[in-house]
Amino acid sequence: MKILVEKDYEAVSKKAGEIFKEEISKKPDIVLGLATGSTPIGMYKELIKAHKEEGLDFSKVKTFNLDEYIGLSKDNPNSYGYFMDTELFNHINIDKKNTHVPNGKAENIEEYCKKYDEFIAEAGGVDIQVLGIGENGHIAFNEPEEALSVGTNIVKLTESTIEVNSRFFDSMEEVPKTAITMGIGTILKAKKIVLLASGEKKAPIIKELLNSNKITTKLPASFLLLHPDVTIIVDEKAYKG
Ligand code: F6R
Repeated sequence: MKILVEKDYEAVSKKAGEIFKEEISKKPDIVLGLATGSTPIGMYKELIKAHKEEGLDFSKVKTFNLDEYIGLSKDNPNSYGYFMDTELFNHINIDKKNTHVPNGKAENIEEYCKKYDEFIAEAGGVDIQVLGIGENGHIAFNEPEEALSVGTNIVKLTESTIEVNSRFFDSMEEVPKTAITMGIGTILKAKKIVLLASGEKKAPIIKELLNSNKITTKLPASFLLLHPDVTIIVDEKAYKG
């Protein structure tokens, strides 16, 4: 694992944006693995800027998102589909047909999860995946558990994640309790992985991850230790060496 320590959130976003820009320029029909949450927003802003100011072309780019809440449709402002449209897709020249966020309203979710992995494989696999990390070490919605799924699957969100997510909803009742998420195996199939973390709340888990030489389902991000090409970009507040 390679670790890059940047001054602040802005610098993390710039660095991540540069890496993605370079990959997109090298391979115009690249397959991107994307994340939601607060952390990648700055990187998406960098990509939008590169599109507007430097003509970075997304016309052939395909994307697959990590996760989506079950029960929320794309027109719900709290859905990850809506997030991706407003934070990135609406501002670049991507063909929406080439963007994929798991469908939280699919009729047969289990069947759909299997298909999602097939869609990714048919597209040639994810070339570069951006990840955030939960304060409890989750990646995508793979929460610390006795066992973790390999492929895309349905998960129950933990109390702590529900609580962290509740800031976006009017009441606790409205916060979805289940989600569709890429599995750990799906994530590890990406050719290149970039994990971003910013702020002091992430420092304990980043420290644990960097000092860990063991994989454990209690720290889902530890599985990234098995991947040959992971870059972790953190700001100084998230890094306590
Ligand atoms: C979102 C996702 C989550 C977030 C994580 C960190 O698609 O997969 O694992 O990356 O919860 O969220 P933020 O960036 O809001 O701290």
